[in-house]
Amino acid sequence: MENQRIIKGFSKLSEQEKRQLVSSFLSSPQLTVNHLESFLHPDPSVRHILSNISENTISAYPLPFNVAPNFLINDTMYMVPMVTEESSVVAAASSAARFWAERGGFKASVGSNTKNGQLHFLYKGDHARLKAAEAAMIPFLREYIQPLTQNMEKRGGGILQIELKDFSDTIDHYFQLFVTFNTSDAMGANFINSCLEEIAGAMEQYLAQTPGFAADEFEPLMAILSNYADQCIVHVSVSCGLSELEAIAPGVKADAFARRFALAVQIANEDVYRATTHNKGIMNGVDAVILATGNDFRAIEAGAHAYAAKSGKYRSLSRARVTDDAFRFSLSMPMALGTVGGLTRLHPLAATSLDILGHPDASQLMMVAAAAGLANNFAALRSLTTSGIQAGHMRMHLANILMQFQADDDEARLAREYFSKQKVSHQAVKAFLNRLRENKANS
Ligand code: MEV
Repeated sequence: MENQRIIKGFSKLSEQEKRQLVSSFLSSPQLTVNHLESFLHPDPSVRHILSNISENTISAYPLPFNVAPNFLINDTMYMVPMVTEESSVVAAASSAARFWAERGGFKASVGSNTKNGQLHFLYKGDHARLKAAEAAMIPFLREYIQPLTQNMEKRGGGILQIELKDFSDTIDHYFQLFVTFNTSDAMGANFINSCLEEIAGAMEQYLAQTPGFAADEFEPLMAILSNYADQCIVHVSVSCGLSELEAIAPGVKADAFARRFALAVQIANEDVYRATTHNKGIMNGVDAVILATGNDFRAIEAGAHAYAAKSGKYRSLSRARVTDDAFRFSLSMPMALGTVGGLTRLHPLAATSLDILGHPDASQLMMVAAAAGLANNFAALRSLTTSGIQAGHMRMHLANILMQFQADDDEARLAREYFSKQKVSHQAVKAFLNRLRENKANS
């Protein structure tokens, strides 16, 4: 791509002009324009939504929209929508969901739905006087932002607490107003950020009008929610009698499986290299549900990994407990999700996902996403500690390679048979298909 010059005013071009400009840097501009256009949705209203969600849109980027059936969560059966590009994730979630549905399903709960945000500021006046004023200042701030919070209060949410925190011993003059929110069934990012910015204005006014203070002693730095939603925690677990794990894999005894599984979790709890991959396996399931329902998976990722390190060391998000006769596997993690607002209803497929889930509230969606995380974690550890992960992955890999070479049904069947005993590689599959096709041509 020979795009070495600075492009000015790109965002002001029409979508069509943007496609043309980007394509003009490539070897086949018209083919590229056609290709990009072929992915545009035929319905103009959907195209309008997609190009308005983001900026500088030149096409739409499809990902598979999948479902994993048989998620029994608190005695309710869910069909779980999952958007992911990783081939084995949905198969793994489905197989673990079915396995646990036959053993009582997932038990889940949500501690609280509380979110938080911070107004970071410098205060160059008398620190002790500011702290002494907290009790009078907080009600003033609450009153000031009442016009912003009243609608959320009608929906059962609003501001729960505003706390003044003094960090001036770490950074000169640095304070925070640490604000906790209930955003009801919304993720609430816009609400939280708007409140925090308004609180900065309220603070300035309070200092300007209160004797002994001056507004210019106050320097607001940042008003932003925190993705470390450490009070918005979802818990999910599965459990069964040890004997119910019998024959979980060919030739593997229940007690040996449980012991090896628990060891795998213990290792992820102790070793950061393993913990990172282990938790990635959890996020395979969680993110796929979050994407499918139009929530912000980067926010949940960031919060999850911070939570995994809450002890000062990065650890497994899941826990396993094995006794003489019982097996329990559980996951607790922050999960600030919404089922109203944002993309959840705007994106046509996010809305469909919520329909498929039976219109869950935010807490129910948190439990579903966490169950998908635990299911994927269970499936990964089950494979890793028994047959190994590659057998399943290679089956998917084979399917992808066959698709790439446009294998027909017969060729795919013969290839699956042949590669059930042979190592799958791109080269080997290509050679196998060439042989089949030559034989067919010569016969
Ligand atoms: C692959 O996407 C996820 C795994 O690596 C997770 C794990 O190792 O636990 C299989």
